[in-house]
Amino acid sequence: MNVNHTLKVLANEPQGAGRYLLVAEAPGLAHAARPGQFVHVRCTAGTVPLLRRPFSFYRLRPAAGAVEIYYQVVGSGTELLSRVPPGTTLSALGPLGRGFPLAPRARHIVLVGRGLGSAPLVALGEAALAQGTAVTAILSARTPSALVGSRPLAALGAAVTTVTDAAGTSDPAQVDELLSAALERPGTAQAFVCGSRRLARLVERSAAARGIPAFVSLEERMGCGLGGCLVCACRVRTPAGETYKRVCKDGPVFPLEEVVLE
Ligand SMILES: Cc1cc2nc3c(=O)[nH]c(=O)nc-3n(C[C@H](O)[C@H](O)[C@H](O)COP(=O)(O)OP(=O)(O)OC[C@H]3O[C@@H](n4cnc5c(N)ncnc54)[C@H](O)[C@@H]3O)c2cc1C
Ligand code: FES
Repeated sequence: MNVNHTLKVLANEPQGAGRYLLVAEAPGLAHAARPGQFVHVRCTAGTVPLLRRPFSFYRLRPAAGAVEIYYQVVGSGTELLSRVPPGTTLSALGPLGRGFPLAPRARHIVLVGRGLGSAPLVALGEAALAQGTAVTAILSARTPSALVGSRPLAALGAAVTTVTDAAGTSDPAQVDELLSAALERPGTAQAFVCGSRRLARLVERSAAARGIPAFVSLEERMGCGLGGCLVCACRVRTPAGETYKRVCKDGPVFPLEEVVLE
């Protein structure tokens, strides 16, 4: 259910390269949210900017009544958010959208992320490992310092491979080899991708060739976050032809075969 929450900021720490990890107390949100859903946050205690900003859950910690958001400063909202000190309370709506449809009895899943797009895969990997599902993660970024989620996912028990543009290991052919090997692992039930249309196309092709259901989490600019303004429309295929869906309400996670990757 979409409800108002108060995020009581416990920590808002720089992680390097304009990134921050925000830890906030929000017990109701921490219990209700599922990996892949997002929260729409007012980035200051005041009312300017008026529009909220959408952020995925990086980690959900229901036992501690806390949620974690890993974010990059890109404009006015995230810049203001980066200056919010611990103790501040922020208004937030959530959990919003449809999250990752993790199969409860999956033996193995494959996660593919690029840059900040890997953030929600950490919450998904954590949920999968907690239910006894093995996780292989292929994480890509421009540089090693831009990789997100590799350390926490490895610490939780996932098999993590990182590739970067800087090392010349992130080109489609090399990633495709890693992906094929991961998808060939016996018991692979699902694949999930986030943060790159190019990687999404690879996962779509490779997973479809093996009959493995695959899902993508999309990011679009958002206004209301609640399905009312249509700012976040994305093109999808239906049996009746192409149409539009709302990333905020119908997504952000979609079956990969449904999305028209532009
Ligand atoms: C479902 C979802 C999950 C996201 N999760 C994360 C996350 O975990 N970490 C993270 O760093 N970023 C995430 N983003 C992107 C984040 O919302 C934008 O970086 C942020 O809104 C930028 O706001 P700004 O005011 O700093 O930038 P500005 O460019 O000043 O923003 C102007 C307007 O454009 C919108 N906007 C700008 N970039 C984006 C974008 N990429 N997606 C959506 N709206 C945008 C803003 O919300 C605002 O309304 C996510 C986006 C979506 C849709
Ligand atoms: S942001 Fe308003 S409909 Fe999606």
